Amino acid sequence: MIIKNQDDVTAAVLSEIERASDARFREIVSSAVKHLHAFVRETRLTEAEFQKACATIATLGQLSNESHNEVVLIAGSLGVSSLVCLLNNGDKGKRETTANLLGPFWRAGSPRTANGASIVRSPTEGDPIFATAWIKDRDGYPVAGAEVDVWHTSGEGIYENQDPSQADMNLRGKFTTDGEGRISFRSVKPAGYPIPVNGPVGELLRAQGRHNMRPAHIHFLIYKPGFKTQYSQVYSNDDPNLETDVQFGVTRALIGKYVRHENEVPPAPDVKGPWYSLEHHFVIEPGEAKLPRPPITGKASGEPPLSVVLERVDLR
Ligand SMILES: [Fe+2]
Repeated sequence: MIIKNQDDVTAAVLSEIERASDARFREIVSSAVKHLHAFVRETRLTEAEFQKACATIATLGQLSNESHNEVVLIAGSLGVSSLVCLLNNGDKGKRETTANLLGPFWRAGSPRTANGASIVRSPTEGDPIFATAWIKDRDGYPVAGAEVDVWHTSGEGIYENQDPSQADMNLRGKFTTDGEGRISFRSVKPAGYPIPVNGPVGELLRAQGRHNMRPAHIHFLIYKPGFKTQYSQVYSNDDPNLETDVQFGVTRALIGKYVRHENEVPPAPDVKGPWYSLEHHFVIEPGEAKLPRPPITGKASGEPPLSVVLERVDLR
C-alpha cells in the first residue's frame, strides 16, 4: 500500500497482520499496533522521543542475561506483571487470589525438608521465625501431598544466590503438605531489598521520585497435579514499603501476619530474645501443574552485590 498520509499507516499495518494464519497472533498483534499507533498520536511523539524510546528498549535487552532480566524488572515496575497475574488467577480476575509474581530468584532443586525443620543452612542474620502455611482448594478442603518450595532473603535483604557467604540453598526448602494441607518451617525473618537501578528501571524510578524497595516477603511455589501451579509471596505486615512496593506486588490477600513475640516461650529452646510467627492460607485453583523455567541456575561468585537505595521524594 502506498501511504498518502499518517491516517493510512495504521490501516496498512493492520491489513498486513490479517495475512497471519494464527488467530491469536492476529488478535494480539493487531491490538498492540492499534494501541501503539494511538499512543503515538495522543502524545504527538517527537522524532527525538521516538529515538530515545528505541534506545531504552535496546538497553533493556542488552542488560539482560542469565542472572538478571531488566525486561522483567521494568514490566514489574510499570505494573504489567501484576496485571497479568491478577487477570489470570482468582477465577480469571473475578475473585481474590493468593497468586503473585514468581520473581527472579526461584531455583529448581531446593532441598527436601521435613515439616517443622529449619531452612537456615549457614549462620544467617535475622530474628527467628516459625511459619505455618495451609494449602486449600477453592471449596476450602485441604490439599494434601502438594509440593511447596519456599525461599526468601536473609535479615540483610540478600538471597543466597547473590551472596557467596551464605551456604548453597540457604533459606530455601521444599516441603510436602500433610493430611491437613499444611507445611511448617523455621527460618529467619526476611528483610526488604532494593531492586537494581543501574539501567532503564533506575532511570524510570528516578524520573518519578520513587524508591526501589520491595517490602520483605517469603516466596512460595505450590505444585500439585490437577491444580494450576501457584507462585506467591507473603509480605511482612510491619514493612514501611507495603504501599509503595516498586513492583506493585502487594495485595490484601498477601499481607501476612508476622507476629512478634517478646516474652513468650519460644517453640525452640535455643531461641533467645524476640522471635516471630507467621500463619498463612493459600487457595489453589484447578488447572495445569507446570513448573516454570528457573530464572537462575546457581550462585554468584565474588562479593555480594552493592545495593543502591533510592529515596522516595516529591519532585513537584
Ligand atoms: Fe523476592
